[in-house]
Amino acid sequence: MYRTKTCGELRLADKGQRVTLAGWVQSVHNLGALTFVDLRDRYGITQLAFTEDAPEELKRQAGKLGREFVVQATGVVEERYSKNKNLPTGDIEILVSELTILNESLTPPFTIEEESDGGDDIRMKYRYLDLRRPVVRKNLELRHRMTMEVRRYLDSKGFLEIETPMLIGSTPEGARDFVVPSRMNPGQFYALPQSPQTLKQLLMVAGMDRYFQIVKCFRDEDLRADRQPEFTQIDCEMSFVEQEDIIQLFEGMAKHLFRELRGVELTEPFPRMSWDEAMRLYGSDKPDTRFGMPFVELMDELKGTGEFSVFNDAAFIAGICAEGQAVYTRKQLDQLTDFVKRPQIGAKGLVYARVQEDGSVKSSVDKFYTPEVLNRLRDKMNAKAGDLILILSGDDAMRVRKQLCELRLEMGSRMGLRDKNKFSLLWVVDFPMFEWSEEEGRLMAMHHPFTHPKNEDIPLLDTNPAAVRADAYDMVCNGVEVGGGSIRIHDQALQAKMFEILGFTPEKAQQQFGFLMNAFKYGAPPHGGLAYGLDRWVSLFAGLDSIRDCIAFPKNNSGRDVMLDAPGALDKSQLDELCLELRLPEEK
Ligand code: AMO
Repeated sequence: MYRTKTCGELRLADKGQRVTLAGWVQSVHNLGALTFVDLRDRYGITQLAFTEDAPEELKRQAGKLGREFVVQATGVVEERYSKNKNLPTGDIEILVSELTILNESLTPPFTIEEESDGGDDIRMKYRYLDLRRPVVRKNLELRHRMTMEVRRYLDSKGFLEIETPMLIGSTPEGARDFVVPSRMNPGQFYALPQSPQTLKQLLMVAGMDRYFQIVKCFRDEDLRADRQPEFTQIDCEMSFVEQEDIIQLFEGMAKHLFRELRGVELTEPFPRMSWDEAMRLYGSDKPDTRFGMPFVELMDELKGTGEFSVFNDAAFIAGICAEGQAVYTRKQLDQLTDFVKRPQIGAKGLVYARVQEDGSVKSSVDKFYTPEVLNRLRDKMNAKAGDLILILSGDDAMRVRKQLCELRLEMGSRMGLRDKNKFSLLWVVDFPMFEWSEEEGRLMAMHHPFTHPKNEDIPLLDTNPAAVRADAYDMVCNGVEVGGGSIRIHDQALQAKMFEILGFTPEKAQQQFGFLMNAFKYGAPPHGGLAYGLDRWVSLFAGLDSIRDCIAFPKNNSGRDVMLDAPGALDKSQLDELCLELRLPEEK
């Protein structure tokens, strides 16, 4: 037996026990006569003590220890002379009588403590060392507990966990696919699933009634803090349900997770907001509702009411009111202006107005407007003395809203309104069915082509498809889309019409989605579902800035696994076997 106890479990009550521990040497403190070693395993840290009167051989062994050596130590649990209040085991130490070095270690490239001294790249390269750090390990523990709770909840609701294949066919209408060449079918490729969407619908046709799967999904898209090229969904589908049934069941799951994992009791139903309202008030389909600061549209107040040509030429003007921020200095306002002008945001400029103590308004466009106009602006913004009004304008309302959304989030952060320990959840509903793609020059499905339009909007499919709303819903928490789903089309004629609007010929639709459309000829039940992003849930619960930190072996922002050094080149023989020839772009 390698050990009788772990490094996290011994307490003062165990005093006098003879125990054997095994773990990694976190640190060695040599105080001349005494040597102390912090021994770490997954469960905690226990101090080992080597005293002056220990046998010479033992002292010699202890003298050889270095950071991250793997050792086994046997000894008696003693009360510590100077206790460490920061450690659960801080009242005791092991007076070691036997020590075995199980394995030596090179000096690690960074220290393995709560705060590492390694940069991101080096930590990712040596991720197995990074994972020894308790902060990172805790995220994986939380992830484990979350998947256990998800399974418990869904099992209690009658869901079956069913696996679906990873090697499937490529389907259009989503992100880019990752593809896998088939050796046995030269010139043909599998695609890795962006989600098991069509497969779970087939499981409903198969009568499984309630399906779930905690499943890897693959999307070849640009990465951000909350996006990885491979990520995990809690993917679910139900038969004979309406939108309300799905919302109730998965709101229940969110509440269950908050209760079990965060000790937070969410008693109220989550608010619902239409996509339209979310865009109008927050410029985002995933508004951060931990704070207010909604948009106020200002066309009536500022267009044509003064000599400011920027506003007079604008097709859209809107502002936000940052409470109590009139104290912002010129320098801070310049910083904000630079912020909105960054290429990723793209605003041309920022207009501000401070409400003075006496209620009068002092703004960057004073010379163009009368005090009366500025007072009307203040009243429309509902601004009080001490508030700061920030205004953006432009020739495209949606673009200005998105810019103002970034500014609102920035102000929220600066004002400390985005507390990671506060959770604000809502459902965003009534998404548009389609969105216009400039790139493709056609309507695209906003969610996916199997999403059911709202019954009352079905007539609009013929007259004004762009105005059709979908039975689609997203759950949003603190400005993060944590899940989304929809009621699906189960009627063949409606599905055919949808493909037609999306620009598929019947032949193309048959070629791409024939497997699903054919299945629907054999009695498809009304069905719908949802997928939660597991990585996003865990990172919200753990208060992380990036989902990377709750994934054991994540990719970096260029989609690389720096530890495995993947992706990498293939041998010529492998390419030959796959009948592939490379034509690489010229090096710049
Ligand atoms: P959707 O594309 O909205 O829906 O994805 C569902 C949820 O998965 C998470 N997510 C991601 N997480 C990390 N990295 C990514 N690249 C990433 N992309 C998505 C989000 C998102 O809400 N088949 C539909 C679901 C359905 O209709 O049932 C789907 O995949 O949290």
